Amino acid sequence: MDKYLNEIKVDENMEFENETKRQYYYMNLCKAYVHNQEQKLGRKLTACINTFGCQMNFHDSEKLLGILKEIGYEETESEKADLVVYNTCTVRENANLKIYGRLGYLSNLKKKNPDMKIALCGCMMQEKHVVDKIKKSYRFVDIIFGTHNIFKFAEILFHSFGEKKMITDVWEGTTEVVENLPSVRKYKFKSGVNIMYGCNNFCSYCIVPYVRGRERSREPEDIIKEIEELVADGVVEIMLLGQNVNSYGKGLKNEISFAELLRRVEKIEGLERIRFMTSHPKDLSDELIDVMAESKKICNQMHLPVQSGSSRLLKIMNRHYTKEAYLEIVKKLKDKIPDISITTDIIVGFPGETEEDFEETIDIVKQVEYDSAFTFIYSKRSGTPAATMENQVPEDVIKERFDRLLKVINEISSKNTDKYTGQTMEVLVEEENTHEEGLVTGRLTNNILVHFKGEKELIGKIVKVHLDEAKGFYYLGTLVD
Ligand code: SAH
Ligand code: SF4
Ligand code: F3S
Repeated sequence: MDKYLNEIKVDENMEFENETKRQYYYMNLCKAYVHNQEQKLGRKLTACINTFGCQMNFHDSEKLLGILKEIGYEETESEKADLVVYNTCTVRENANLKIYGRLGYLSNLKKKNPDMKIALCGCMMQEKHVVDKIKKSYRFVDIIFGTHNIFKFAEILFHSFGEKKMITDVWEGTTEVVENLPSVRKYKFKSGVNIMYGCNNFCSYCIVPYVRGRERSREPEDIIKEIEELVADGVVEIMLLGQNVNSYGKGLKNEISFAELLRRVEKIEGLERIRFMTSHPKDLSDELIDVMAESKKICNQMHLPVQSGSSRLLKIMNRHYTKEAYLEIVKKLKDKIPDISITTDIIVGFPGETEEDFEETIDIVKQVEYDSAFTFIYSKRSGTPAATMENQVPEDVIKERFDRLLKVINEISSKNTDKYTGQTMEVLVEEENTHEEGLVTGRLTNNILVHFKGEKELIGKIVKVHLDEAKGFYYLGTLVD
């Protein structure tokens, strides 16, 4: 045990006004320890957070980094760090395999630096069989925590200082939403904002409801306050995050719809662009389409996962809409918002998928003409209803269908991109181009990338760009201002 650690006074029985205060108390304790280590080593302590999975996880990592910076760690991209955190995803099997592979590499690093701490968190850690496996075969891991208690990171970390044994703290669920903890944004000018946590839909293939818990909406006042603070700090674009944003507001003391939340967010002065994800088709209301059509700030983009074009499969997937109902929504969206870009997620090879089912998927892709689509090979997740369904589709059949689908999607999306060539449109400049010096990269409101000649001072600004040429998934343009 580190001698200095004994001198840091911990009062386990201390009472706090709220959980946030309690966590700041632990951040201060960690800070004292980290400061002492710095003096001993004559250098700063470094931390590396590696994030896998979806936007929610990336946003969670900004919170983890906020806590670590508050404690005094310096951020590094290298895993040769004093603390390495893996924020994991388990939506498909290969996400898990990737983590196990990388843990082997981390164990070598730890052999060279025995004081190194390794922390695992995120969705994968919510699965008992994963934690059991790590306890058995990856005993060099120091900390395991889950998706429900990331706000407790400082407290857990503090207990691991000077401790050789693995600390595991995974909760099965929570109703708690802890506000006002520190966070560090990756981009100065744009940010994700959680509006809800968890998912209640239990699509039969999906593990998310099991690892993220039941759906909980944040109070609209808390969301608005967070966005106002972000805007005051230079943010012009926000992405409202939730597994099913269209059911936002259910269960709150004063129930409010997602469309109404958007109306309120729209009023925030200084905010320029509003995006959101993900929309579940079953809960997409006409009110939402109207709000989008009237809005000046909501981007012309809708990520609307279809998963399959077969109504028969959609039923077994527990998606609660048919192919026809989905197409009806798309029609309404296109009628009211003519420039809208629609994107989607598709699963190929769900148990029992026949050639006819698959052709329905190809057909819906052709009818909707998606601007882009994420395609996934079905992955069996233990604990989900689909995992025990009979007639799992053979791998070679899935692979062949997957390639066919990809071809159709690519043809449509490159044709789609071309439709704005010659127009001048607003672009939010995001970064310097990584491939060519002198170029910057930004996004149109429909999320398509544009590269054009410009100074890095433009980053974070919205400028007018003439779209000279379409290159498949992006444009080359010329700054007009
Ligand atoms: N809440 C979002 C999706 C979150 S998961 C929604 O309902 O639309 C992101 C995507 O991963 C899903 O849309 C689905 O296409 C894919 N996915 C989820 N579980 C999967 C599985 N078991 N196998 C393959 N893809 C899966
Ligand atoms: Fe998974 Fe369905 Fe929830 Fe999306 S809505 S996270 S696919 S269960
Ligand atoms: Fe993965 Fe968890 Fe997101 S399982 S997709 S990181 S909610």
